[in-house]
Amino acid sequence: MTREPSSADQLRIDRPAADQRSVDPLSVELRDVHLAFGRNRVLRGVDLEVPAGSTTCVIGPSGSGKSTLLRVVNRLLEPDRGDVLLGGRSVLRDDPDELRRHVGMVFQHFNLFPHKTVADNVALGPRTLLGLSRDEARSRALTHLESVGLAHKADVRPSSLSGGQQQRVAIARALAMDPRIMLFDEATSALDPELVKGVLAIMRDLGASGLTMLVVTHEMGFAREAADQVAFMDQGVVAEHAAPDVLFERPASERLRRFLSRVL
Ligand SMILES: Nc1ncnc2c1ncn2[C@@H]1O[C@H](COP(=O)(O)OP(=O)(O)OP(=O)(O)O)[C@@H](O)[C@H]1O
Ligand SMILES: [Mg+2]
Repeated sequence: MTREPSSADQLRIDRPAADQRSVDPLSVELRDVHLAFGRNRVLRGVDLEVPAGSTTCVIGPSGSGKSTLLRVVNRLLEPDRGDVLLGGRSVLRDDPDELRRHVGMVFQHFNLFPHKTVADNVALGPRTLLGLSRDEARSRALTHLESVGLAHKADVRPSSLSGGQQQRVAIARALAMDPRIMLFDEATSALDPELVKGVLAIMRDLGASGLTMLVVTHEMGFAREAADQVAFMDQGVVAEHAAPDVLFERPASERLRRFLSRVL
């Protein structure tokens, strides 16, 4: 899919080489997705479209199904009903393993291997899953560590890094797999407040670089600035979705108004 040149393309010009990603983003579409854990109907007909190369932030109360929605997109969970399309192809029917390789995910807890160096953590996926040689994988790891500002930490262990730095390593690890869609599940909620900004800045840059981003977040400031679209989840559905200024300034439903008054 081709895109019109946008301000995001112009932004790329002044970036260091490591940041100039040649991404070919994929769209994400959920169609009437239902999923229950036993009798707990967690997703109750989710519809959501994330155009290729755009950023959607998902907000909503605890337990509304936000993490479950992300896990359905990268097929950690299979819906009971409905469909999930990546670049127009169904993750349920059309070669799910191939499609899943295009999806990178960053969680609240970074889950780096403590006994491996930072560079080895990032190089592991490219080596084992993409079949790169040791040297190729290391060089790729360094490129991505550079893009998150951590090339100088390549040979230390994760435990010697701050939480914010560890999360940036986790982002580099996901990027080293050349994802065409990135999912973030509250990537900053385990971080001390002063470390949040650096991680959000990297996420904002990634969105501007043209990746498709689906971001579950409690950071309303980030959603307002970085999202093309904000989706409000409540009780297992996307209850409302709109451009951020519309959603935040003119919430259509009482339940979104109530949610915003609690979090803003
Ligand atoms: N693996 C699981 N097995 C059983 N129930 C689950 C599982 N994962 C999630 N749930 C249930 O699904 C519901 C939605 O959970 P989910 O984690 O998607 O919510 P969330 O919107 O991400 O909440 P939070 O903001 O607290 O992270 C909850 O009731 C939760 O208990
Ligand atoms: Mg969650």
